[in-house]
Amino acid sequence: MPSMAPGGAKNSNQSNNQLNGKVSNDDRRVEFFARKHRIAQQRKSLPIASVEKRLVEEVRSNNILIIVGETGSGKTTQLPQFLFNAGLCHDGKVIGITQPRRVAAVSVAKRVAEECGVQLGQRVGYSIRFDDTTSSSTRIKYMTDGLLLREALLDPYLSRYSVIIIDEAHERTVHTDVLLGLLKSVQKVRSGPINECANIDCMKANNGLLMEKENDAQRASILKQYRGIKLSPLKLIIMSASLDARVFSEYFGGARAVHVQGRQFPVDILYTRHPETDYLDATLITLFQIHLEEGPGDILVFLTGQEEIESVERLVQEKLRQLPEDNQKVKVLSIFSSLPSEKQMQVFMPAPTGFRKVILATNIAETSVTIPGIKYVIDPGFVKARTYCAHTGMESLIIVPTSKAQALQRSGRAGREGPGKCFRLYPESEFDKLSDSTVPEIRRCNLSNVILQLKALGVDDIIGFDFMEKPSSEAVVKSLELLVLLGALTEEYKLSDPVGHQMARLPLEPIYSKALILASQFNCLEEMLITVAMLSVESVFYNPREKLEEARTAAKCFSSLEGDHPTLIAVYRAFDEFLEKSNLGNSREKTEKNLRKWCKENFINSRALRHARDIHRQIRGNIEQMGLRIVSCGDDMLQFRRCLAGAFFLNAALKQPDGTYRVLSSGQGVQIHPSSVFFRTKPDCIIFDEFVRTTHNYVRNVTRIDYLWLAELAPQYYTLQEQE
Ligand code: CDP
Ligand code: MG
Repeated sequence: MPSMAPGGAKNSNQSNNQLNGKVSNDDRRVEFFARKHRIAQQRKSLPIASVEKRLVEEVRSNNILIIVGETGSGKTTQLPQFLFNAGLCHDGKVIGITQPRRVAAVSVAKRVAEECGVQLGQRVGYSIRFDDTTSSSTRIKYMTDGLLLREALLDPYLSRYSVIIIDEAHERTVHTDVLLGLLKSVQKVRSGPINECANIDCMKANNGLLMEKENDAQRASILKQYRGIKLSPLKLIIMSASLDARVFSEYFGGARAVHVQGRQFPVDILYTRHPETDYLDATLITLFQIHLEEGPGDILVFLTGQEEIESVERLVQEKLRQLPEDNQKVKVLSIFSSLPSEKQMQVFMPAPTGFRKVILATNIAETSVTIPGIKYVIDPGFVKARTYCAHTGMESLIIVPTSKAQALQRSGRAGREGPGKCFRLYPESEFDKLSDSTVPEIRRCNLSNVILQLKALGVDDIIGFDFMEKPSSEAVVKSLELLVLLGALTEEYKLSDPVGHQMARLPLEPIYSKALILASQFNCLEEMLITVAMLSVESVFYNPREKLEEARTAAKCFSSLEGDHPTLIAVYRAFDEFLEKSNLGNSREKTEKNLRKWCKENFINSRALRHARDIHRQIRGNIEQMGLRIVSCGDDMLQFRRCLAGAFFLNAALKQPDGTYRVLSSGQGVQIHPSSVFFRTKPDCIIFDEFVRTTHNYVRNVTRIDYLWLAELAPQYYTLQEQE
């Protein structure tokens, strides 16, 4: 009945559905239009909607614009659409928006595609490392800041873009900082016509951003691409949630900054009386207190990482089961970077009627994504941050107190839709001791990756580069030294040919790129490709607490006495073989079912393995383009281990009499992580992939090597001094 009100139509269909168990087309259509209507309403009510015209005018009249706005005001989702509608991506040009986090790029792109009523990958798409959904019709492209930096290697003027929006600039990731410096130069170059001389003069004038001198062929081909072309000017927009636009404005020579008024309701801040000894325990107590004593409204909990989130989730579920049935109506959801995107999207859905949503999030929910419905925030006051010790050259993730700015952002999440409450799990006196804002990442990370990229872009003088905040010269020197040791740079700190160029082309940490390049000489590139793919994903072993013994037994059938790297290869190959076999003559559903069963029996995380297969395919493509020979060493794991030693020589450690290890390059004392095949039987000398600092200094993914190989395979580093 066409005149029937949507509500009535839906109800009658619902009862039918219950009978035949299907959702009718009518029902879907009603749901579709209802959602479309809801989204249109939501968009209209965003604070940014009322200033659309003014913002577009500001962008038209300023080549650099800084936009500061309260989180949730609609900057990330709306501004690109405003600019698109205003025709700021004419002639097939693209509006690019960078995000520090993959999750944000993906979730926002999906949302915006839906708002525009288009399929993801058409007008709106995203591109992150190893996952590109864009097409030639994409005009609004969300991506990570790291990805745009990589694009600059192939297209130094970023000529595909008419507008680049650096979003979440206040996060000051190392990629954002480097991009800002680069874009400043690119923008100047793009304001004039390109010809060989003007180009180089102009570039020289701009922070030494020269074309690659060493590689004439590359230089000629890039120049050919651009010569005589007058590139359209590039609009640059810096967006930030924090109120301090001054630093960005000063950096861009007094660029104009505009504020988008947000809508913020009052938030009651509650502190604990005493410091908490166990913040996870305190989190649980507070969570249940809110749930049982406070009125309706969703709860957002800030935790430091995936493991912590998963363990809190289990504990919440356990406790919930002990409550009377009426009090069990809680939907626990989580959001962190490595969560698959379908799961991430669930946090944006409203909870079922009568249920309270509890969202366990990392600092991603501070400003990157806005989750509707939050009334209560629990902030234990910690965050996982990268730290780098230039002295030892070791980088690690550690849990540190948040800054004041972060604490304020977190509490702000409770007051988006009405008055809220924020429970800070520390005394008020502690708040005063927090630092005002987070130290930019460039001051606390290993710089070898960005230095390699800058070198490939022709920026020779790293210290002289126009950074918004200069990295410490000690860290720069240490990273340059590392790149020399890996053979990516010559003794004069120039990109080496071909190794340095090859390493810069691979979208991997320099040490992984080195391992791949070396593996082609050791005839084990097939094995190293698998290893690098497996090391690039989260753990492939699934260890549920309640079935720990079973999981350990299952893992044993893959474990290799040689180490964790060969074990990872064995898992990958077993998965691959099973998939191939299962594919033969079976339908897709059947294959899927078999695979799920296989993974369950073997305690394997199938998502991680699929991800590894994807990454493998993509790096393989890069490697093939470089013309390296992909051969297997077969059963000769000796060859493979020697190759690992030749690449990871800086991560070599020697066993000490007490069963711990000493890292040869730094003198750091470490222990083997419990997940390793060597947790119990400890070899004399090892190389490891990763240094993890938790309650102990652990090293993860360990393979045994022969101590004598080090001087033989890495003579540039190990002379007889280490051979005592
Ligand atoms: O960037 P900013 O923090 O200013 O806001 P935004 O990310 O553009 O979000 C604007 C609105 O869109 C918020 O109210 C979100 O709740 C909503 N949104 C959503 O419902 N689902 C998403 N995946 C992203 C945003
Ligand atoms: Mg945003």
